[in-house]
Amino acid sequence: MKFLRNAWYVVAWCTDIKRELFERTVINESLVLYRTSENKVVCLSNRCPHRFAPLHLGRIVDDRVECGYHGLVFDGSGRCTHNPHGDHKIPQAACVQSYLVEERHNLVWIWMGNKDLADPSKIPDFSCLTDTLKFSSVVGAIEMNANYELITDNLMDLSHVEYVHRGILGSDAISRGKTEVIDEGATLHSNRWCPDGLAPPAWDAMFGNYGKHVDHWLNMRWNAPAHMLLDVGITPTGKHRDDGIWMLGTDILTPSTEEKTFYFWGVSRAYALDDPAAGEAWVAAIDGAFSGQDKPMLEAQQRMIGNRDLWELNPVLIPADAGAVRARRKLAALIAAESAREEEKPAGEKRIVMV
Ligand code: FES
Ligand SMILES: [Fe+2]
Repeated sequence: MKFLRNAWYVVAWCTDIKRELFERTVINESLVLYRTSENKVVCLSNRCPHRFAPLHLGRIVDDRVECGYHGLVFDGSGRCTHNPHGDHKIPQAACVQSYLVEERHNLVWIWMGNKDLADPSKIPDFSCLTDTLKFSSVVGAIEMNANYELITDNLMDLSHVEYVHRGILGSDAISRGKTEVIDEGATLHSNRWCPDGLAPPAWDAMFGNYGKHVDHWLNMRWNAPAHMLLDVGITPTGKHRDDGIWMLGTDILTPSTEEKTFYFWGVSRAYALDDPAAGEAWVAAIDGAFSGQDKPMLEAQQRMIGNRDLWELNPVLIPADAGAVRARRKLAALIAAESAREEEKPAGEKRIVMV
């Protein structure tokens, strides 16, 4: 399976990266991250070019990384700046790959591909996470032993809510709801409209145990590779959304390997901004729904599929799959275009450097 390389990926929440070495694997590449004394985030390949020890087992010395095995030192650009041994000469090949980093919306984004193609203006809008005038946010991250596209399927097809999240986020209005898929090129929307039904229990509890019919909307926005934002809420049937309660849900998936994903979630509520209990209620709902219900289902689904491609297994398609299938096709087209460009390039020379 190929991953899209020329893309921004979220590697961590900004608060995860401190003045210490932090390891995370993204699209099968082990990375080491840390903050400099000027609070800048550095991201390097974690594999020391000497004997391939992981650099995150070393230490930070003057804003640089000292390998924990034999002490070669690398700066924030990945250049070796110190060899403590022998004549102290630095071999030409002693460098590690560095990655472009952008801190935005409280998230650390990294560019895994050709640096010349990186454009931070292409990072999708998750400004609800930092817009404290309009929203109050709670956030977290979940590791799932499942392929990121299976989780995209889950998020782009919210018909599963009635079944997987029964008793928390499910309601029979959701299964009666209609999904509309809107394709705007780079951005895809999968919008589910569920009018005139009882609110899901978690929502009803947050709306003062209203107990009467509401309109419920769940509108998911998708951008490649797997950056999603859910506009979701309930309001008394026929009323404006601001008569009810709603939030923007961040759902960003970063493939670590083919079968492991980091799921960065956020709930940015547009109501009860100053009430910490409302945030705590969402943390409990997400923990129950995402970790307690989606995760076991997705991991079990992954075990059934193994390392096969979904299409190889000829999945049965139903109308609710429309948004998920469209997202898969868009991503596959981007990966195919990237591979075609790679194949056009002349093969690089192999370099053997004698020390
Ligand atoms: S493995 Fe890093 S210095 Fe030897
Ligand atoms: Fe779910």
